[in-house]
Amino acid sequence: MASIPSTQKGVLIDKTGGTEVLQYKTDLPVPALVEGQLLVKNDYIGVNFIDTYFRSGLYPAPQFPYILGREAEGTVVKTGGGELYGLKEGDKVVWMADSAYAQYTAVPASKAIKVPSTLPPKVAAASLLQGLTALTLVREAHPVQKGDWVLVHAAAGGTGLWLVQLLKSIGARTIGTASTPEKVALALKAGATHVINYSDSDVRARVAELTAGQGVVAVFDGVGKSTFDLSLDVLARKGSLVSFGNASGAVPPVTITRLTAKNAKLLRPTVANYVATRAEYEAYSKELFDFIERDGLDARIHGVYPLSEVARAQEDLEGRKTTGKLLLDPEK
Ligand SMILES: NC(=O)c1ccc[n+]([C@@H]2O[C@H](COP(=O)([O-])OP(=O)(O)OC[C@H]3O[C@@H](n4cnc5c(N)ncnc54)[C@H](OP(=O)(O)O)[C@@H]3O)[C@@H](O)[C@H]2O)c1
Repeated sequence: MASIPSTQKGVLIDKTGGTEVLQYKTDLPVPALVEGQLLVKNDYIGVNFIDTYFRSGLYPAPQFPYILGREAEGTVVKTGGGELYGLKEGDKVVWMADSAYAQYTAVPASKAIKVPSTLPPKVAAASLLQGLTALTLVREAHPVQKGDWVLVHAAAGGTGLWLVQLLKSIGARTIGTASTPEKVALALKAGATHVINYSDSDVRARVAELTAGQGVVAVFDGVGKSTFDLSLDVLARKGSLVSFGNASGAVPPVTITRLTAKNAKLLRPTVANYVATRAEYEAYSKELFDFIERDGLDARIHGVYPLSEVARAQEDLEGRKTTGKLLLDPEK
């Protein structure tokens, strides 16, 4: 095992704002460990929309300065003792916790999962947070059944492509939405039954046509503000509006009586609360890895950006220029 340096490269913010507040540093301290932690040397860092929320201030940062990033894949290079869930030095792990935008992260062992030897590290890196989000949404937020009509917004996005593929594996009939012909084609290839370009089509009319006027039993909506009303409108009676993100901005407060017309259910879940216990985290990760291997789910990687170019990565994600997963290479 190579020796561990005392300083490292990383990206932090000390105030909120646009991508200009992202500070790339080459002299951050490598963190010390406390009991129950692993020091992970990250190979690939996942970029997620939530990183932009912490940067912009939509979600409050726990402290300043704050190293951004919520997931990565890497190698355990040191352990802090205590309960380590069987993880040890040399293991390849994927993890979801704080401070991923760095070469080294002190990760609570409870938040790390061993990468199966059959899964390439880059695929594991591109799968965990968005894959677990999609899996827990279709299992728990609205347990989707074979034959169900469902709608997925931003179907060619990182989380959207996982949803589309998992829903196909379950046997659901998925209507996707996307903003360009290229994204429409990609979501169809991933297994959506129909994909509507919501830049130039009447989504309400098209959903009514496809579902013989019934609507969909669930909408998975990570777009938020700009799609909320549409999502409620295309629901079937007793359907579930699963609002799980704010890509277009946060959904304003909702008058609860708006749900009455259809006896609709409204949920605002986060993946962290579905994988809160070690048993849940391990079981869902195993199910996700099994899906990838058994059903050939594709962890589509949009690109691997140098960590030093994190601003470009976030601008591409926020600018709707990407499809699938964005990764950062901490060595560059
Ligand atoms: N609740 C959770 O636990 C959880 C976990 C993971 C992700 N999420 C949420 O899931 C959503 C998707 O995240 P992701 O990382 O997978 O991103 P992504 O879907 O790869 O990118 C966002 C997509 O949203 C669409 N979009 C529509 N209006 C937009 C706007 N005004 N600005 C930017 N994008 C817009 C774009 O697709 P089109 O161009 O096709 O419209 C864009 O490509 C985010 O809201 C994120 O917060 C939530």
